[in-house]
Amino acid sequence: MEEIPKTNFSLKDVVSISDFKREDIEAVLNVAECMEKLPKERKSSLLKGKIVASLFFEPSTRTRLSFETAIQNLGAGVIGFADAKVSSVKKGETLSDTIRVVSGYADIIVMRHYIEGAARLASEVSSKPIINAGDGANQHPTQTLLDLYTIKKAFGKIDGLTIGLLGDLKYGRTVHSLAQALSLFDKIKLAFISPEELKMPEHIKEHIKGIKYEEFTELAAVLPELDVLYVTRIQRERFADPAEYEKVRGKYIVNKESLKGAKECLKIMHPLPRVNELSPELDQTKYALYFEQARNGVPVREALLYLLKDVRKW
Ligand code: CP
Repeated sequence: MEEIPKTNFSLKDVVSISDFKREDIEAVLNVAECMEKLPKERKSSLLKGKIVASLFFEPSTRTRLSFETAIQNLGAGVIGFADAKVSSVKKGETLSDTIRVVSGYADIIVMRHYIEGAARLASEVSSKPIINAGDGANQHPTQTLLDLYTIKKAFGKIDGLTIGLLGDLKYGRTVHSLAQALSLFDKIKLAFISPEELKMPEHIKEHIKGIKYEEFTELAAVLPELDVLYVTRIQRERFADPAEYEKVRGKYIVNKESLKGAKECLKIMHPLPRVNELSPELDQTKYALYFEQARNGVPVREALLYLLKDVRKW
């Protein structure tokens, strides 16, 4: 019978990837791998009797639905909302009060919020584990864990790879978390490819200064070296000034033509949703990893829920 690996997973909340040590990441990836192999009946008993709250104050397709799939696969019940307008936030209730109340109902709280730092605040007032499903332009740690899981499945390793992050590196929370996580691995090289206006923030570059990285404005300048090209959407909704968005809209369109000169083994990832930066003509090519990446959200989120299922913070 498949055994779920024993781990030293050390976290009581999943708020920021910067809270993870390499061994915490490896614990999640190893348990996720096991989740893919466990018989359905066994898996559905792992969180039997538990309640998980799914609080989405900002839109989501993949994160919310893969969490809710994971919750149901593990045999737990799910409560929550996909739209804060149907909650008492609409009547002016604070986030702190909402979280205090929900932590009296649920064993784990999964939350997406539009304010940077909302997940950290929630973790400080919640007696139950908080899983950050994205907070503004700040962090998206569970996306990072599934990204790492996807890379490991495709290449058999993470160490030693050269990874390009392309697009909106200023507002893209997925690339902030991913760059930080990759800095925990050995012999990683990162290429940050973005318009001048959307460069990787200084605080992230400060955090990863132990690894090799270079900045580019054109994909062609670094494409032949890449093992992974991680494409991101330019996030119109995070621009205060629409004129600033217009300056960078459509700057990168990754298609068959733009991949001439790429390594045979290149894999393209994207957290999705995409708009026009990643051509559908790539979907059936050997490069495309992004739909598998989205599918991998389920075992990775199952692993996180399993690792946090018995945590009591006070
Ligand atoms: N990748 C991701 O976070 O997608 P959703 O916004 O659909 O959850």
